[in-house]
Order: sequence, then structure tokens, then C-alpha cells
Amino acid sequence: MKLAVVGATGLVGNQVLKVIQERGFHFDELMLVASQRSVGKEVEFAGKTYTVISMEDAIAARPDIAIFSAGGSTSLEYAPKFAEAGTTVIDNSSAWRMNPNNKLVVPEINASELTKEDKVIANPNCSTIQMVLALAPLHRKYTVKRVVVSTYQSVTGTGKAAVDQLMNERQGIEGEMAYPYKIDLNVLPHIDVFFDNGYTKEEMKMVNETKKILGDDTVRVTATAVRIPVMGGHAESVNVEFEKDFDLDEVRQILAASEGIIVEDDIQNLKYPMPINAHNRDETFVGRLRRDETQPNTLNMWIVADNLRKGAATNTVQIAEYLVKNELV
Ligand code: A2P
Repeated sequence: MKLAVVGATGLVGNQVLKVIQERGFHFDELMLVASQRSVGKEVEFAGKTYTVISMEDAIAARPDIAIFSAGGSTSLEYAPKFAEAGTTVIDNSSAWRMNPNNKLVVPEINASELTKEDKVIANPNCSTIQMVLALAPLHRKYTVKRVVVSTYQSVTGTGKAAVDQLMNERQGIEGEMAYPYKIDLNVLPHIDVFFDNGYTKEEMKMVNETKKILGDDTVRVTATAVRIPVMGGHAESVNVEFEKDFDLDEVRQILAASEGIIVEDDIQNLKYPMPINAHNRDETFVGRLRRDETQPNTLNMWIVADNLRKGAATNTVQIAEYLVKNELV
């Protein structure tokens, strides 16, 4: 098994390496790949020193799997070249997600759709992954009609430059701006670019990717995506209207029994999900479960996950594990 980690010098790529090590993902050969800027750089991983190689050298080495975390344009250009060399690409960018020829996979929900023919597999948007993970088991039981979600997203989702901006602001240092405004002591109702309909690309990712992953076009989603000066993970306030009525205790049981979910819902003891606790964890945390008392069959919940883990690195490594286990590579 030859594994390439593309974008290995970035925030997500770094987490991919950590997750591979923690989960004991087996490989015979590992290639760390980044842009020309980083070629030749040495990176320590699992007690060994690796030299960062170029995209061209990685393609020539024909890895079995390449986990891409290098942005949309890099992926659009290079994923087909890797695929042509026989590599199965698992891509963290938005480049291939809504393409009808590419699977969009959250392993706990729809990994069984994968076949040997899938050469470029898309990893969903971070905010979408943690939300659909909680929605999927409830959808099976009660049928989701409509979701209203507001997000509270970590700066780590923007990459290294955004983390630097927050830290610089905290220390009073003038530096490069990853956002159009200050992020410390502020909240930006703006993630990714704006579309003509007034929504951002991040918001529309949540709308469209949710339907694709759940395999149900009738599920209606409306989203407001917000960046906040936080590091450990994304939080979401999610209001879900179901077709059928539900029992709150049963909802808790369904979520608690679902793979990858931890229910943290004990308000007496002030237990609820927070990014500070989700940080560096692979699970998605769900709490503040309560009925929306303004209309029937409607649930409010609060969902938190480390966006660099389940929202990105962990999900891609889980896809890679599934491919290997099921002999799809
Ligand atoms: P590099 O460090 O050489 O720029 P982040 O989102 O945290 O900024 O990380 C982006 C990652 O994607 C980095 O590892 C970066 O490498 C990599 N990357 C960016 N552009 C390319 C490219 N054209 N080819 C390969 N890797 C790229």
C-alpha cells in the first residue's frame, strides 16, 4: 500500500498524518507532497524524516491512495492526473463534491456506495459532515423535512493564514489578513464567496451536500454560516422538522447508538458540547436536545466537532480504511 498525503505541510494535511498514526492505518510507503515552495523540506513523522516531494514525482510513483488537502484548484488540476496513473484520490476540497460522477462520502452513512471504479472520491464540507452524521440516523427513523442551521465556525477551517491572523491580532502584531475584517473579538457572517442569491458558497454547500449524502432531494436545508474567533472546532445550532413525531428520549438513544456520535446532554451538570472539548477528537458531539415548542415534530440540537478531524482528516482516513478493508484499491 503506497499512500500519498497531498498538502502535507498544511493544517489539514498535518492532521491527516496525526490521524493515520493514531488509528494505526497501515501503509508500506508514505509520500508527503506539497507545492513547489515546500519540495525538499524535511518533515518528521512517526520517528522518521520524510522529504516533501512534488506533485509530478508523486504521480510518477503511482500511489494506491492519495489524500488531497491542497485546495480546489490544485485538486481540479491534479486529481485526474493521479487517477489516470491508477491512484484513488480522496479529496478534501469542494472541487468534485457535487459532480454526479463523484461519490460524496461520510463512511458511517454511505461508504457502501463505493466501488473500485471510484477514482476521485469527495470528502464533504466540514460543517456538512458533522450535521449529516446526526441527521442520518434520525432521517431513517422520522424523515427529515426541513433543517434550519446556523454555524459557529473555527478559524482553522480557513487554513494557516487565518490562525496566524487571529494570533497576530491577539498579540497586537500587524500581519497579513486572511479575512476582510478583524476576527478577534468579532463575528463574520461570511464564509467563502457570496452568490447572486445572497447566500455564501459555504451555506450552499450545506444545502446541496446534505441532500446528496442522505440520498434524498426532498430534504430542505437553509443555512447561515458564521466565522467566530475559535480554534478547536465548529459548532452548529440545528433546528430539524420531521415528517413523523419523535420521543426525545428515543432521539437521545438513537444518537448515542450511532457510530461516531457522543451525546453530551446533561444540563443539570452543565454538560453540553463545546469546541474546547471536541478539539483533537474524532467523534461528533451532540447536545442541548429539546423540542421546538413553536411547531410540531421539530427538534433543536447543538452539534460540535473538530473541523480538522471529523470535518476533514478523520473522514478521509476513514474512507481510506474502508477502501483497503473492502479491497477497493
Ligand atoms: P505549501 O505548504 O507548499 O504551500 P493550508 O490550507 O493550511 O494553507 O494548506 C494548504 C496545503 O496545500 C499546503 O500543504 C500547501 O503546500 C498545499 N498546496 C497548495 N498549493 C499546492 C499545489 N499547487 N500543489 C501541491 N500542493 C499545494
